[in-house]
Amino acid sequence: MARYDAAAAGEAPAATFTPPDFRDVLAHLASGVAIVSCWDGQAPRGLLVSSITGLSVEPPRFLFCVRKEAGCHDALLRRPALSVSLLAADDKEEALRFASGSRAAERFAPERWRLQPGAPPTFRGGIARAECFVDAVIDTGSHSVFIVEAERFAFTPAAPLVAWNRGLAGLGGAEVARG
Ligand SMILES: Cc1cc2nc3c(=O)[nH]c(=O)nc-3n(C[C@H](O)[C@H](O)[C@H](O)COP(=O)(O)O)c2cc1C
Repeated sequence: MARYDAAAAGEAPAATFTPPDFRDVLAHLASGVAIVSCWDGQAPRGLLVSSITGLSVEPPRFLFCVRKEAGCHDALLRRPALSVSLLAADDKEEALRFASGSRAAERFAPERWRLQPGAPPTFRGGIARAECFVDAVIDTGSHSVFIVEAERFAFTPAAPLVAWNRGLAGLGGAEVARG
């Protein structure tokens, strides 16, 4: 299959495609983004995920996927209390800090994060902050799928930060069709 080509949109699916082809497809899936964070001993850990989705309302569950090489993967496998922070349009810089290992030293600044023992590291910004526990972990090879349940919740409605086409953009101001 050719790399993504608007002119070819609508073609019948082809049986052969490469990992870069599929990466192109996934890059065009617009997604909300969240920072998942937890304690790893004394160290706060976290990463940006676009794989987050709501799984059920009752019980209140999210699922997200974490690459096994990610710095917080093994800490999450130990099933600590964790925080899920759904990011707002204003949180782009914070998102970038948690999306690149080279910026790991900039993460968890106390003016932007609540770092208290007895609770997971919690972002002070974002649209929603949920304290969760891990219900189930599914090993899928390169990634683990974490199913987590929210026990506490805070919600500040705002325009979301959206990942699309290898970038991050606020959705504020966009025309949204409501079903
Ligand atoms: C928009 C975007 C979405 C991402 N979504 C995921 C994801 O769902 N799961 C994942 O494991 N990594 C995801 N990543 C990559 C991690 O955020 C990145 O590798 C991060 O640096 C991992 O944390 P570490 O540096 O502590 O290892 C995403 C990156 C970006 C830019």
